Amino acid sequence: MENFFELVSKRQSCRKYLDIAVEKEKLLKCIEAAQAAPSACNSQPWHFIVVNNKELAAKVAPCLQDKIMNKFTTQCQAFIIVIEENGNLTSRAGALMKHQDYRSIDLGIATEHICLAATEQGLGTCILGWFNEKELKKLLNVNAFKRIRLVIAIGYPEDGSVRKKVRKNIDEISTFIE
Ligand SMILES: Cc1cc2nc3c(=O)[nH]c(=O)nc-3n(C[C@H](O)[C@H](O)[C@H](O)COP(=O)(O)O)c2cc1C
Repeated sequence: MENFFELVSKRQSCRKYLDIAVEKEKLLKCIEAAQAAPSACNSQPWHFIVVNNKELAAKVAPCLQDKIMNKFTTQCQAFIIVIEENGNLTSRAGALMKHQDYRSIDLGIATEHICLAATEQGLGTCILGWFNEKELKKLLNVNAFKRIRLVIAIGYPEDGSVRKKVRKNIDEISTFIE
């Protein structure tokens, strides 16, 4: 178990992967981390399809790419597909009454739990929001009425070094009222 702040700084989008399969136990740990994530009214409005098969991953990758984006996914042997579920009645009523998109928020939190769990286990990840949802649904037999919100590429990074994060200043992103 490492220091939380070290873990957060180590998590970075990985776009170069080694040709090594990911152990199922490690992917299961990632799903356990997602399971533990908080959600509005404990609604847990998620389902995760874990693709951990080289042949299937090779079919998933073209659904994540176009001429410019996400070419690197061809090297990936594992993906976690983040599907939005309906959630419970209270969270849906709350979202309507408060004009908030709790489900997207919940999925984002769970996704980061997965990425941090992967990092903790020496894996690299990249969250992908750019993909052909229709093709991916067809390939993975996902109900046409469901939404795939994100895809997480997971694998062993080619380079273990940690990049300096390019971020806005603390002053820009926060206001302290004391
Ligand atoms: C919702 C979301 C969608 C993203 N979509 C993509 C994507 O399609 N392709 C990609 O290469 N990176 C994608 N990223 C990764 C971001 O580019 C990356 O997190 C950001 O530049 C910060 O860099 P870091 O993750 O290395 O800290 C996405 C990240 C998020 C949170």
